[in-house]
Amino acid sequence: MSAAPVLVTGGAGYIGSHTTLCLLQAGFDVLVLDNLSNSSPESLRRVAELAGRAPVFVEADLRDRQALENVFSHYRPASVVHFAGLKAVGESVEQPLRYYENNVQGSLALFEAMQAHDCAQLVFSSSATVYGDPESLPIDESESIKPTNPYGQTKAMIERIILDWGQAWPALRGLLLRYFNPVGAHPSGRIGEDPQGIPNNLVPFISQVAVGRREALQIFGSDWPTPDGTGVRDYIHVMDLAEGHLAALRALDGLNGVQPVNLGTGQGTSVREMVDQFARASSREIPVVEAPRRAGDIATCYADPGHAAQLLNWRARRGVDEMCADTWRWQRDNPQGFKI
Ligand code: NAD
Ligand code: UFG
Repeated sequence: MSAAPVLVTGGAGYIGSHTTLCLLQAGFDVLVLDNLSNSSPESLRRVAELAGRAPVFVEADLRDRQALENVFSHYRPASVVHFAGLKAVGESVEQPLRYYENNVQGSLALFEAMQAHDCAQLVFSSSATVYGDPESLPIDESESIKPTNPYGQTKAMIERIILDWGQAWPALRGLLLRYFNPVGAHPSGRIGEDPQGIPNNLVPFISQVAVGRREALQIFGSDWPTPDGTGVRDYIHVMDLAEGHLAALRALDGLNGVQPVNLGTGQGTSVREMVDQFARASSREIPVVEAPRRAGDIATCYADPGHAAQLLNWRARRGVDEMCADTWRWQRDNPQGFKI
């Protein structure tokens, strides 16, 4: 590696692999650190195939301080995009200690290594889940932080840690990216989301129904105070999200301190609308059954994306039709995900 690389933690995962591809194509050298606890090295092999060059890959756990020390002293990254973490809401309720340990301890170890090596540029994967049930819509960054589950608490805590760290270390420049609902896949159909076991999230579940791996989608609640009674979310194409990270990295140079930024489209889509769009994109029927509301869910959630437009000069460009078409191509060509 010649120029100082970008360190991408969790870069073998869903959003990390798309972002790694985007950074390689933009000319960055990329160093991925991942323990493969929720991903496959095949994703990075395919990223290399699409980009025409490979990221450096270090298989290590973020909580392994010696491994971090080796990575920082050997590669001297100039900036960090920090995706690595556990992300299943329901699992975090069952196993809170594991979530706090992995997400918070892992982040602390990373931040200490960054400061020890004078690496002062950070882009952090946060989530709209930090807003809990919002007081007003669309949600802007001044909305209060009140997560409703341990996973969301880890994101809120790590945000707090980075803000306090920035107060103590004025050289630090950080962006706390609060993603809304990432979906979709690279348009080649070569990389995409590969959930282990039964998917928790709507679009991966719908696509497994479409490909015949599951019988029917359960709609969690048809009596929400929304136009068609089903939950409304702000779905964002993973390629838009990847480009948002590229824009964030570029914006760090001119930034002062640390601040949160929503990454969403500003458009709400209901569960029924998403099912209809996916049926059209895949030319498959998507059987549904009405089920009770899921514990912890809210009616409606969508972003005010204005701050990202102004600060990062970035806007989501892809619509729900493209999100469904790209998810379907990935699912159809890889019915078992990265397992060959
Ligand atoms: P993912 O599980 O596909 O990717 C996370 C990666 O981190 C995986 O490759 C996993 O192996 C790795 N990892 C986890 N713990 C690690 C550790 N201790 N050391 C090293 N590697 C570790 O998830 P994703 O959907 O790509 O999400 C990336 C980030 O974005 C996460 O922090 C997640 O919380 C956040 N986020 C995701 C969503 C979403 O809906 N996908 C929404 C908002 C925020
Ligand atoms: N839904 C169903 N059936 C399913 C799965 C989901 O009807 O099988 C519904 C949900 O009730 C909700 C909508 O589809 O109305 C979206 O649900 P997801 O599980 O896909 O997404 P959430 O908005 O609940 O949460 C996701 C991630 C969080 C992240 C949040 C950001 O799981 O980690 O988006 O807004 F923080």
